[in-house]
Amino acid sequence: MADQKYYAHPTAIIDEPCKIGAGTKIWHFCHIMANAHIGKQCVLGQNVFVANDVVIGKNVKIQNNVSVYTGVILEDDVFCGPSCVFTNVVNPRSQVNRRNQYTQTLVRRGATIGANATIVCGTTIGRYAFIGAGAVVRGDVPDYALMLGVPAIRKAWMSRHGHRLKKTDSHGTMICPESGWRYREEVPDILHCLDWPEDKPLLEKQTL
Ligand SMILES: CC(C)(COP(=O)(O)OP(=O)(O)OC[C@H]1O[C@@H](n2cnc3c(N)ncnc32)[C@H](O)[C@@H]1OP(=O)(O)O)[C@@H](O)C(=O)NCCC(=O)NCCS
Repeated sequence: MADQKYYAHPTAIIDEPCKIGAGTKIWHFCHIMANAHIGKQCVLGQNVFVANDVVIGKNVKIQNNVSVYTGVILEDDVFCGPSCVFTNVVNPRSQVNRRNQYTQTLVRRGATIGANATIVCGTTIGRYAFIGAGAVVRGDVPDYALMLGVPAIRKAWMSRHGHRLKKTDSHGTMICPESGWRYREEVPDILHCLDWPEDKPLLEKQTL
């Protein structure tokens, strides 16, 4: 059952049963299908569609005109820009029924998907990765990667606060200009934040 501590605009359609966390806001013309699970404190902008069995974590922001299809998992603190596109069948054909062949897309904690970006299914987008506006992602994305273009390639690393990182010393340390947190690529193509564990959300730090 949906718990009534969330807000849904009167034009939104919410099929039962589904779970929607307290403090979540669901705006005009959204459609939430049965068995969807949406966490607390999320915001779903105008005309967002959430299909059956989709799982959405806490504090997820989904901008206008986004369809979250079955097979998509959005972890806590994910940001989906306006009109970004998820998919769930790699090779759709109208004449072939592929309803049992949905392929998963996992968007890990804190990742951002820019406006109008497309995520081809079967991919995992790493924690705090940043997909630029209009990019087409067709493979797994490392944590903190800034992915741009069609097809998207990693152009840089992006801090948890959303700043492109540059090396500042001979050890390859990179410092976020907003938070001052240090990042380092200790193994090629794997970035770590040295100042705050990957599995801790920013909000937790801010409320300390
Ligand atoms: C990626 C982004 C964060 C900018 O990052 P940045 O490091 O500050 O980038 P800059 O503007 O300094 O541009 C640096 C280079 O990246 C390129 N670039 C920036 N954004 C790009 C994008 N989305 N796709 C392709 N290339 C992009 C620029 O053209 C520039 O290329 P050049 O070095 O060859 O001239 C921003 O462009 C973006 O895509 N933001 C998403 C916005 C969005 O979707 N918001 C949704 C909520 S409304």
